[in-house]
Amino acid sequence: MDKFNIAIDGPGAAGKSTVARLVAKQLGFIYVDTGAMYRAVTWKALQTGLSPDRPEELARMAAALRIELHPGEHAQQVLLDGYDVTDVIRSVAVTQHVSAVAAIPEIRRLLVAKQQEMARSKGVVMDGRDIGTHVLPDAELKIFLTASVKERAERRYMEMKAKNEDVTLEQVEKEIAERDRMDEQRAASPLVQAEDAILLDTSGMSVSEVAERILSLAKSAAGKGIR
Ligand code: DC
Repeated sequence: MDKFNIAIDGPGAAGKSTVARLVAKQLGFIYVDTGAMYRAVTWKALQTGLSPDRPEELARMAAALRIELHPGEHAQQVLLDGYDVTDVIRSVAVTQHVSAVAAIPEIRRLLVAKQQEMARSKGVVMDGRDIGTHVLPDAELKIFLTASVKERAERRYMEMKAKNEDVTLEQVEKEIAERDRMDEQRAASPLVQAEDAILLDTSGMSVSEVAERILSLAKSAAGKGIR
């Protein structure tokens, strides 16, 4: 099968990364989690005490960073200037600040250029918020993955509980709704479904059902069988 690109966008906790990783594995494609790149920049900003209201300094700092994404068995490994930040970029502090950092146009320009470079030779499954609309407008297959706020909150709450984090379902639901609002209302590349994206509401669907559905869409997009 010829290589092609798949863009998977949608709100937080819709299951994009789990599904995108599965689909990439099945197809032998490379999985790119673009949210991890915004998280890595945010982590560095918090480390260096730079706040999102100093966008020029933040952009200068981000431009000098070396962000590497390596496929891993369970999660994509993220290296920042050679230092493994895979786990720390999922911290509560980073999650609270990342939407503000991702709203800075200079930061988006920088990271989008890196993402486009990663997808240049095709064979990439990329997930994010603006992949189908801005990063890879020519992607051969675009999916907009969503689920109700309630279901997304329940999924994220279970994940956090499994990690012994001290939260309530109400808190998680409130945070998810707030991040949706920030991602949808920012001026620079807001979260919006691309006109030619296929909407998949995953409420009530299992991860493997969603992956199967995308694989079958990929098969049609390729115009020939996938192995
Ligand atoms: O998918 P995630 O929760 O790891 O994303 C973290 C944040 O980064 C979230 O607030 C949305 C933002 N983001 C973005 O603006 N554009 C992307 N392509 C990916 C993520």
